[in-house]
Amino acid sequence: MAKVMLNYLLLATSLLLLLPGTAADGHGQDAIVESRGDIPAIGLGTWLSPKKEVKHAAQYALDTGYTHIDAARVYGNERQVGKGIKKASLKRKDLWVTSKLWNTDHRHPERALRKTLKDLKLEYLDLYLMHWPVAFKDGSTVDTRRPITETWRDMEALVKSNKTRYIGISNFAPADVDAILAVCEICPYAHELETHPYLQQQEYVDWHTARGMRVIAYSPLANLNPHYDSGLPSILHDPFWEQMAENKNATIPQAVLAWGLQRGTVVIPKSVHEEYIRENLGALSIVYGEEEMMQIAAQDRKVRMNNPGREWGVDLFDGLDDPTVPKREDEL
Ligand SMILES: NC(=O)c1ccc[n+]([C@@H]2O[C@H](COP(=O)([O-])OP(=O)(O)OC[C@H]3O[C@@H](n4cnc5c(N)ncnc54)[C@H](OP(=O)(O)O)[C@@H]3O)[C@@H](O)[C@H]2O)c1
Repeated sequence: MAKVMLNYLLLATSLLLLLPGTAADGHGQDAIVESRGDIPAIGLGTWLSPKKEVKHAAQYALDTGYTHIDAARVYGNERQVGKGIKKASLKRKDLWVTSKLWNTDHRHPERALRKTLKDLKLEYLDLYLMHWPVAFKDGSTVDTRRPITETWRDMEALVKSNKTRYIGISNFAPADVDAILAVCEICPYAHELETHPYLQQQEYVDWHTARGMRVIAYSPLANLNPHYDSGLPSILHDPFWEQMAENKNATIPQAVLAWGLQRGTVVIPKSVHEEYIRENLGALSIVYGEEEMMQIAAQDRKVRMNNPGREWGVDLFDGLDDPTVPKREDEL
């Protein structure tokens, strides 16, 4: 129980506490070096957030206690996210912003990041992720002649030029992670991957922790993203979670996110609704006992919600639960 409490305190502290920098507003080269701090435990996701709504969602979140926004160039809404950040009262040094290099930009990360920074109206990012271990020539034709290790080299240069404090990866299989670890001079700070109660991958989460990488859990609310077609009923109607939420005097999203935090992942729930944005922060005050954590572990369904591998003709998630099933010959 003492260990559980300690974990919770560490996570709760990391939400609100970024080590203060001494530069006036966290801008410029010196500020990047000085404003060191760990990634806040909870952030606001922005995938599929409509342009008209995400500015307010980002501003509202930051004025309500969030200090972390998860963005990406491919979400097509970074300009509006940037407007929300600018309107919020948080100082740059107290804010964590992640964005991602899209597949079509593997050969020119510097140019892509410049565009992202311009749209977000920031001078630097906290974390820049390689969105997928897959390069595209254009559209979605795979560029097999661009190894991820070369993209990584170019991303390392972005840290050296102070355009981002950290770099990381997203949606990598173990062999992809190993390929980067074998060559990195600046190694991944974090891996953002799909994980939630229906795709727990606890071993993979722990594998990262053992290698000094943070795990950022995307789609932390399992199948609540309406884009997903998992074949499972909504987690909001899952009797196990109904009971668990009742036991904790919480809502189901709060109970689910609290588990994500307590197992050592950073969670980035997306919402454009004020009440959900506020509600999700409530996860920070829920603590599970060991027995409850074991009960939740037994609920794993090993169902992956986000897998564009077949569409792209690429085998993804090899060695993990629910990898891309290669096409049969009669499907080719
Ligand atoms: N790296 C990657 O490849 C990758 C892939 C997927 C996602 N992500 C990141 O992870 C973030 C989160 O994942 P996600 O957007 O897939 O799914 P999610 O955050 O697990 O779920 C989002 C859905 O849940 C709803 N919701 C949020 N809080 C709620 C609450 N308290 N009660 C009821 N409904 C609630 C939202 O509704 P409303 O929006 O209608 O309010 C939205 O429909 C993304 O936005 C993105 O930033 C990254």
